[in-house]
Amino acid sequence: MALLEQKITARKELDGLGVYKPGKPIEEVKRELGLERVIKLASNENPLGYSKMAKEAMMKELENIAFYPEGTAPVLAEALAKKLNVQPEQLIIGNGSDEILHLITRSYIRTGDEAVMANVTFPRYDTNVRIEGGTPAIVPLIDGVHDLDGMLAAINDRTRMVFVCNPNNPTGTIVGKQALEAFISKVPEHVLIVVDEAYFEYVTEEDYLNTVPLVASYPNLIVLRTFSKIYGLAALRIGYGVMNPSIVQELMKVKEPFNTNRMAQAAAIASLQDEEFLQTCIQSNEEGRKYISSEAEKMGLSYFPSQGNFVMIQLGRSGDEVFEALLKKGITVRSGGVLGYPETIRVSIGTEEENETFIKTLKEVLN
Ligand SMILES: Cc1ncc(COP(=O)(O)O)c(C=O)c1O
Repeated sequence: MALLEQKITARKELDGLGVYKPGKPIEEVKRELGLERVIKLASNENPLGYSKMAKEAMMKELENIAFYPEGTAPVLAEALAKKLNVQPEQLIIGNGSDEILHLITRSYIRTGDEAVMANVTFPRYDTNVRIEGGTPAIVPLIDGVHDLDGMLAAINDRTRMVFVCNPNNPTGTIVGKQALEAFISKVPEHVLIVVDEAYFEYVTEEDYLNTVPLVASYPNLIVLRTFSKIYGLAALRIGYGVMNPSIVQELMKVKEPFNTNRMAQAAAIASLQDEEFLQTCIQSNEEGRKYISSEAEKMGLSYFPSQGNFVMIQLGRSGDEVFEALLKKGITVRSGGVLGYPETIRVSIGTEEENETFIKTLKEVLN
């Protein structure tokens, strides 16, 4: 039976918005191409998995699945507060940092407000601002790096928030310590500064600002972090934000009552205790990042210097084509075509073996 035509129109803010396209899941690629093995280097996930301590904690927590979780994840907030040296009241725990972005725009963006952000950066800033009727004010990157002066200059009376993704996804670049601190001090008090540090733990460069301690001095500063990346809990959906308690209180009004589940809370708490796993991941990622960057260089390809768990490589030809060719050989990356740099691919750092297979296959594809 044919479905009847639907006559109710959605809010006009949704006109022209697309549906988020994630990196292709392994299962989908295997099914579509009939491949037995697929290496996924497309979504900046942790190739080493996640902490065994988190697994044990989840096994225990299985007993309690019939009961709703604690809505604000207070045990996790307490553990994070200790680790970060902040007050638990300064923290909000989200269903991924994605949810916190959504809560921020839902709570603060009014129709006609502007939000300053880079181009190219994490696309959810743009989407969430538009959903609420706001307008992104786009400031192009300079050589893949946030143009903080340009972003300051773009702030006007209508500006409600600014987004700084540090390290930036998809380029992996960071802004220098002094530059970011000066920027934060110059943004007017009525403008929220959202610093997205999803890849914070991977940074090995010394000239990188830890913004969490600044939250105490800047009531308009929000820092976002996640358990999806270095902690390897992407599927559980858990992240957090550090900010002035008064902002937390507003976001709490908007958040779903049970936004993070028991498994995620238990796994995140346990993950914070596994310093050894964290260090192993940092080291493995740094080695992989260096390997892929230096191999790209040997192939005559340039790349953005990355401090994340991915590298964006400039190919001098269509990223879509190279993406398709790699896909046929069982490797998924992100084409720069969907990320705003059409002649690039972004490859996530894998295990040593995955990185070697990627480089070998990239050579085949480019030849
Ligand atoms: C810069 C950045 N921010 C936020 C997120 C969202 O992470 P999650 O919602 O899994 O915490 C991602 C995920 O890729 C990201 O790259």
